[in-house]
Amino acid sequence: MARSALLNVMTQAATKAGRSLTRDFGEVQNLQVSMKGPADYVSAADRKAEEIVFQELSRARPEWGFLMEERGAVEGRDPEHRWIVDPLDGTTNFLHGIPQFAVSIALERAGEIVAGVVFNPATDEMYTAERGGGAFSNDRRLRVAARSTLTEALIGCGAPFLGHGDHARFLYEVRNVMGGSSGIRRFGAASLDLVAVAAGRFDGFWERGLKPWDCAAGSIIVREAGGIVTDFAGGKFDHIPGDIACGNELIHKALLAELKRADDAIRMTQTSAA
Ligand code: IPD
Ligand code: CA
Ligand code: CA
Ligand code: CA
Repeated sequence: MARSALLNVMTQAATKAGRSLTRDFGEVQNLQVSMKGPADYVSAADRKAEEIVFQELSRARPEWGFLMEERGAVEGRDPEHRWIVDPLDGTTNFLHGIPQFAVSIALERAGEIVAGVVFNPATDEMYTAERGGGAFSNDRRLRVAARSTLTEALIGCGAPFLGHGDHARFLYEVRNVMGGSSGIRRFGAASLDLVAVAAGRFDGFWERGLKPWDCAAGSIIVREAGGIVTDFAGGKFDHIPGDIACGNELIHKALLAELKRADDAIRMTQTSAA
């Protein structure tokens, strides 16, 4: 299947950045690792990959701005278009030699995500979607899984870590989803978790507090694969505060119900402690 000119630009940038990550993978002693905050690492691999994406996309569309994880916001002359980029999603995995990481690039037009690309260099899987055009892995059309009950579903999640997020709340959520499903997984790269839903590997996924670059590309890929993507109340997913829940219609509904039960349970404990 021929890709659009836009997706060609995005996949080329992701491929080049992915090659740089592959070269750096396993070379942690040479990667000048530093911490941006508690357990929040960045390395030369993140920065090199980001520079490659920045150069490639700037050359192809010189007017468009950026929101990048490491570099931050870069204003473009065209106020309508902005690239949202995570050059290395799954930095902790990468630095531990775990081949579960990705390059994630989305295009926002007039405030809406209209295209997304997630590239997994370790498996050479290139996930793409453009609004209204379906979702693909390499050239294979993607469709979310058809399982209809939570009891048969495998659910991915993202967990808070040292110094980040609400750990107590997450334990309630895990207890409920784990108790009601076939199993849960925490793989450590949100963009790959999302495309796993699009590909029907995971039946659903939830995580709190994601940043735009973690999920902008993955969320359009899930939607274009027929999935539902919302916040935890079933409303429009917003990149701030970045709470995301997704799956096919039935699993998404069942997942939201479990997350709501977790929320009710934590409220009860807070009320009785007060
Ligand atoms: C992280 C990963 C992880 C998620 C974290 C993100 P990074 O991104 O996506 O799965 O749980 O919230 O920060 O820092 O490796 O690009
Ligand atoms: Ca990071
Ligand atoms: Ca990320
Ligand atoms: Ca990152």
